Amino acid sequence: MTMIALTVNGRALNASVEPRTHLADFLRDSLNLTGTHLGCEHGVCGACTLLLDDMPARSCITYAIACDGARVTTIEGLDDDEITAELRAAFRREHALQCGYCTPGMLISARDLVLRLPVSDERSVRVGLSGNLCRCTGYVGIVRAVRSVIDERRRRGIQPVPGGGHSALGPVGSGNGSTSNAPTVPVAAAELQLEDSGAMVIPDFAPEKVFKDHFAVGCPPEAVFEMFGDVARVAACLPGTSLTGVPTQERAEGLIRVKLGPISASFRGAARIERDPQNLSGRIVGTGSDQRSRSSTQGEIHYQLMPTEQGAATRVELSIGYSLRGMLAQIAREGLVRDLASRLTADFARNLERQLSGAGPDGSVEGPRNLDGFSLLIDLLRARVRRALQRVLGQ
Ligand code: FES
Ligand code: FES
Repeated sequence: MTMIALTVNGRALNASVEPRTHLADFLRDSLNLTGTHLGCEHGVCGACTLLLDDMPARSCITYAIACDGARVTTIEGLDDDEITAELRAAFRREHALQCGYCTPGMLISARDLVLRLPVSDERSVRVGLSGNLCRCTGYVGIVRAVRSVIDERRRRGIQPVPGGGHSALGPVGSGNGSTSNAPTVPVAAAELQLEDSGAMVIPDFAPEKVFKDHFAVGCPPEAVFEMFGDVARVAACLPGTSLTGVPTQERAEGLIRVKLGPISASFRGAARIERDPQNLSGRIVGTGSDQRSRSSTQGEIHYQLMPTEQGAATRVELSIGYSLRGMLAQIAREGLVRDLASRLTADFARNLERQLSGAGPDGSVEGPRNLDGFSLLIDLLRARVRRALQRVLGQ
């Protein structure tokens, strides 16, 4: 984490940010300034536009860490701004918004045009707003609204400001960057360390994200607990996982392969296994890193076995916590990781059931194929569309 000092909507603040956090996430998640919307997160749609040292900028492709020393103004900071107030009134009058998703970014880009365009010719306004996409209005009302504000202000004798008053073109527009001097505090990321013996160190850690899950198995808890003690059999049930050494009951080393969109990663790591036979519960703490995607992770799983169906079946309660760093962390948002973990859990439960029912390792139990995030993603989207249709159709 790195400390930065910046001014947001006139308020000076210090914050500790991860290098990969973009400015929009920082504003929305840490400062609760949710007026900055996120659409594409690729710098295309303009929904996240705000002012950085008075210049319009895309906050989805601007790292928060690069804003050290900058002055950030979001739509919330323009509540009392004269031009924005005139634009808001014009947007209402000209029906320039419907769902309003594009509107904060649109208002900030429009404000810049009002500041610097000498006359309100339609082409200049359309070109000026071409970086802000609106899926609802067809732009006619928006263009009319912006032109009307420019016309009205010029009629009142308010002259355009050359270049919108921009003078500095520094990093992200601030020209004030001082990140090189920013003190850094160590990141609690999973850099693999080795003990004197050459074994990987598996440190305890505080997970950044934790969620719950569960699954059911048609075998008694004691049988499930016994199987959980057989690391090789458990690993064989986990898609994409293979062991790289001979495991003991307390420790295992292995490889887990993940493919998420364009990124393939092979996490090499180690896990520490703790078991509590009295309570039929346990904990697995792991750490791993992938050189190619320069990503690293730490994770822990708590499980508790609960008897169901008069002890003939088991409900496995899971608490899953993780921290992720590097390239994968940039695309693996919490909801996506949670959904993928649920699918992984479902695959694991199915394979476990087969193992426990005596199916042999002849391919009937899913082996260490890659954990393919793309196919999981397609399944997830299918499930979400199905749920949405069911809601719409009232089923
Ligand atoms: S969310 Fe930033 S440009 Fe689309
Ligand atoms: S008003 Fe809906 S996207 Fe523009």
